[in-house]
Amino acid sequence: MNPFYLIPHTPEPYFCDRKKETEDLVHFLENGQNVTLIAPRRYGKTGLIYHVFDKLAKKKGRMELFYVDIYATSSVDDFIAVFAESIAKVLKKKSLVKSFLKFLSRIRPVISQDPFSGEPKFSFTLDTDADRRYSLKTLLDYLEHRPTKVIVAIDEFQQIREYDGMSMEALLRTYIQPLTNVQFIFSGSRKHMMSEMFTYEKSPFYESASLYYLDKIDRVVYASFIKEQFEKEKKHITEDAIDYILEWTRCHTFYTQSLCNRVFSNVRKEASIVNVFMAADALLSENYETFLERRSLLTPRQWKFLIAVAKEGIVNEPTGAAFLQKYNLGAPSTVSRLLSALTEKELLLETKSLEGSSYCVYNVFLSRWLERLG
Ligand SMILES: Nc1ncnc2c1ncn2[C@@H]1O[C@H](COP(=O)(O)OP(=O)(O)OP(=O)(O)O)[C@@H](O)[C@H]1O
Ligand SMILES: [Mg+2]
Repeated sequence: MNPFYLIPHTPEPYFCDRKKETEDLVHFLENGQNVTLIAPRRYGKTGLIYHVFDKLAKKKGRMELFYVDIYATSSVDDFIAVFAESIAKVLKKKSLVKSFLKFLSRIRPVISQDPFSGEPKFSFTLDTDADRRYSLKTLLDYLEHRPTKVIVAIDEFQQIREYDGMSMEALLRTYIQPLTNVQFIFSGSRKHMMSEMFTYEKSPFYESASLYYLDKIDRVVYASFIKEQFEKEKKHITEDAIDYILEWTRCHTFYTQSLCNRVFSNVRKEASIVNVFMAADALLSENYETFLERRSLLTPRQWKFLIAVAKEGIVNEPTGAAFLQKYNLGAPSTVSRLLSALTEKELLLETKSLEGSSYCVYNVFLSRWLERLG
């Protein structure tokens, strides 16, 4: 059994740390506060939400917990369907779907079954904005009238800003605000957009949730977690191998888990640093095609810039003469456009601090691959 999970819903013994974060989120929710969870992609937001749900489920004062992933939605109509499906999925386990459908009959859902998962799929006839408003309100009304407290986690929340037509932000805010039985976790990776949604005075969600920034897992804690996981499964990993894993993957959860998973599966008893080198190489070669795919979506200048950032690891002054000359990147005036294009495409990750912004290649494997290029 490989103890390094690669899916967000990681069971307790295989879930690394996040003790304080879990406690904080549970505390917010138990005290009636909505939470906005923000972190770069693949740090572990979704994993943390599931972990918090597992904790809440074990508590005495029972709550109903709904997880809604709106990553793939592009309209209010999609949102409504996905929201209904997420509710049905939880109720199915409790044989409550029938009463839910009865409640929904006023918005006339068409229900089919997903051929792969067997879960119910919903579609609604939403001809007018009034239909949309009414449907959304109906779904929230249903949750508001549940006999137990309800928590709804909306993952990839920034997506609602991409919807065409009516302002989903304003609409959601209008219906969410008066609810007393339902609380929310809004989670997203677009830091700028997410914080703007919750801290900008003119945004509908202004100050309606506590902002919570999720950082990387602490390196020392991660190191002992990795060691323990090997040992629990009667294998061993050397200290320098662990160090190298955490350095090479920059403690970025998904990448660290992936490399650990591979090293673990490759060794029978003892993992040394050489096993780590080989596993890392294998992961990069397997991703070769996707990296080339990325390249095809960029201009040569963007690609060159990305390589330069990868070779540096972190760039604190991307418009500084030292960096531009070292990699022959042209004038500072053109760099800001490159930076914003690459950040927008989620190829560069911008980290802001009091000293200013720094940049690194967002995808750690891509970064490690690029830095090897001649
Ligand atoms: N605390 C943890 N312990 C062990 N593994 C974890 C932990 N948190 C996350 N992971 C692993 O890292 C992977 C990425 O985490 P997750 O999907 O939660 O990130 P995310 O921030 O939601 O990313 P995205 O923005 O891409 O949705 C998960 O698939 C899971 O395998
Ligand atoms: Mg996620």
